Amino acid sequence: MDRRNFIKLAGGGVVVAATTSHLTGCSLSSAYPAEAIEIWHGPQENADPRRWALAYAITAPNPHNLQPWIADLHEPNVITIRTDPTRVLPNTDPFGRQILIGHGAFLELLVIALAQKGFSAEVALWPEGELSTQLQQWDQRPIARISLQANGAKDPLFSQILQRHTPKTDFDTSKAVDATALQQLLKTTETTPGIRAGGTVDAEKLSPYRELCWQAAQVELLTPRTVMESIHLTRVGPAEILQHRDGISLNSLPIRIMDTLGLFDRKNPPEKDSQAYKAMMSRYQGFSQSAMGFIWLSGTNHRSDQIQAGRAYVRMQLRATELGIGVHPLSQALQEFPEMQAHYATAHQITLKRAAPKSADDETVQMFCRLGYTLKPASATPRRTLEKFIKV
Ligand SMILES: Cc1cc2nc3c(=O)[nH]c(=O)nc-3n(C[C@H](O)[C@H](O)[C@H](O)COP(=O)(O)O)c2cc1C
Repeated sequence: MDRRNFIKLAGGGVVVAATTSHLTGCSLSSAYPAEAIEIWHGPQENADPRRWALAYAITAPNPHNLQPWIADLHEPNVITIRTDPTRVLPNTDPFGRQILIGHGAFLELLVIALAQKGFSAEVALWPEGELSTQLQQWDQRPIARISLQANGAKDPLFSQILQRHTPKTDFDTSKAVDATALQQLLKTTETTPGIRAGGTVDAEKLSPYRELCWQAAQVELLTPRTVMESIHLTRVGPAEILQHRDGISLNSLPIRIMDTLGLFDRKNPPEKDSQAYKAMMSRYQGFSQSAMGFIWLSGTNHRSDQIQAGRAYVRMQLRATELGIGVHPLSQALQEFPEMQAHYATAHQITLKRAAPKSADDETVQMFCRLGYTLKPASATPRRTLEKFIKV
């Protein structure tokens, strides 16, 4: 006889799931499969410090967990970083700005990990010139050439690398983030040249920022090509998560059952009022409304500034990890696609008090994040195996 599960869906409905064919044999736990998150246990001791440090670098935060990094190790004592031009988000990140922020985060973790092994890293950005502003023209030119030198000074943030996770749950609205903690986070960005930071944890002032997040999320979710970009990168259930080990990994039982029952259409945007639609909307509404503070990073908008923003961002998130504060980027309002234009302008107005940038020389908000305390610890997200990132 079929084993039947009655499951309450996020949107409130109840489904009967005939689980025998698709779900038996799988763990019903919502934890990600252990193999997909093995990187978070840290690397094996390895003769080559570059590989050891790269194992830390690939835990970097990055948009949609695309993990676009390629590390070329053919030169002794040198790591040359390139990007994989197929791992981009042409609809929500049409200029590759966010992808390069993810490269900056990767680079910073690499430098911190090399220092832990006693090396200082001499970083040359864009040794063969910058990548084009046009994604379609991205090629194999290096983003950075890192040469290992003796006498690296250890960085205390190293201890937080494997603890850092992006909290993608509602924050505890009974717990405010205090102004001193915000100042500590802002301070971490001071060591990154070209990057400025601001933020607020003042309860009286949060409402326009929360509203911006929610309004901008709706634009992304209701614009067919932008929501489809996320849906195509969504991995549901242990088998898919293990197969890809990237993208947006969803492993909770209600979502797996919805998927099994064909209620999660991967070919079309969710229909209005469908369970998938309601689940998606309520997730972002919860993120926005439970934000207990906001922090943003800005700089001019040349390719190197984007890398610098990523370096500053991950340092700030590592420090937040140490302080037990959740930092969650909500990037929708910063996305440079036409339908987002009004929210892009508002984002610049309410953070920098200035109009949206018109050129790369203008101050640009590079990261916009909500702050708060999680009700339970954030999960580690999958990463591909180290060898997938290495070219020798
Ligand atoms: C430039 C950038 C933009 C991001 N934007 C968002 C976002 O809009 N929404 C979100 O949930 N996470 C966002 N993130 C977080 C990533 O989704 C997250 O880093 C990735 O899934 C890996 O998870 P981890 O940080 O827990 O390792 C962003 C990260 C970066 C670096």
